[in-house]
Amino acid sequence: MIEGSGKTALVTGADRGFGLFIVRGLAQRGWCVFAGRVLKEYDHLDKLASEYPNVHPVWLDVSRVEDIEKARDEIEITAGRLDLLVSNAAHMGGPAPSTLGGEDPIDYSALEQDFMINSMAGILLVDRMLPLLEKGEMKRLHFTSSEISSLRLMTRTGSVRYAMTKTALNLGVRMLFNELRPKGYTFRLYQPGGMNQVLPDGSYRRTTKAVDPVESAASAVEQMLTDRIDEDRLALVDYHGRELSF
Ligand SMILES: NC(=O)c1ccc[n+]([C@@H]2O[C@H](COP(=O)([O-])OP(=O)(O)OC[C@H]3O[C@@H](n4cnc5c(N)ncnc54)[C@H](OP(=O)(O)O)[C@@H]3O)[C@@H](O)[C@H]2O)c1
Repeated sequence: MIEGSGKTALVTGADRGFGLFIVRGLAQRGWCVFAGRVLKEYDHLDKLASEYPNVHPVWLDVSRVEDIEKARDEIEITAGRLDLLVSNAAHMGGPAPSTLGGEDPIDYSALEQDFMINSMAGILLVDRMLPLLEKGEMKRLHFTSSEISSLRLMTRTGSVRYAMTKTALNLGVRMLFNELRPKGYTFRLYQPGGMNQVLPDGSYRRTTKAVDPVESAASAVEQMLTDRIDEDRLALVDYHGRELSF
């Protein structure tokens, strides 16, 4: 596994759950971690930062270009480079959930917002962080996707909005891969599993057969810090290390 000493990462959507556990995993390995937050009312990141001085919470709503550029400038001043970008923030539900012909009709504003956060932000982040990534040694890009992104595997109904955004993310990552792999960048497209949700007080909303986000984040960190023999191939890989069709 790649040692973190002197290395720098940015993790988006790190206020709670999976993103927060990725920050912790990297911090424990000695990484300097910039952790994107959007919520004032959650204090999990503050607690983590007081335990690990190498954790730096940064205000980062990924749907706001100004936030992304401000975070980039902050990382430039503090660390001067970025080795690993973890694009994890997502909007998973909310109003107008996508029941066709239902009481809550699908509307464009919700569609646009979800595409911005779940699909486009990952690409925009890479674009704006590129100068810092160029100065990093590792040049690794992680994107948290989902099994529902797969055109072949997605057989459920509902969640049409969320599913579409993750499929679009996959294609965006494919385009980044085509352009940046020849320049030395490596990619992780990760399917974390259907996870138990972590609530604001740190307790879990448990669902039968759901994956523990702590375990899934541990697997993600292992995968993002371990070189693969087939880096020239873009693969969607799950928390067991199994490759999925997408
Ligand atoms: N949970 C699952 O079963 C599952 C399954 C497959 C894939 N995934 C993916 O795994 C990742 C983590 O999911 P999770 O379960 O940890 O979900 P989560 O608890 O909702 O975490 C996503 C994080 O992103 C944040 N976020 C939302 N909008 C944002 C924005 N505009 N800018 C920055 N951050 C924003 C969320 O903040 P809020 O607290 O304000 O929402 C939250 O902290 C996501 O990419 C998700 O799509 C999850």
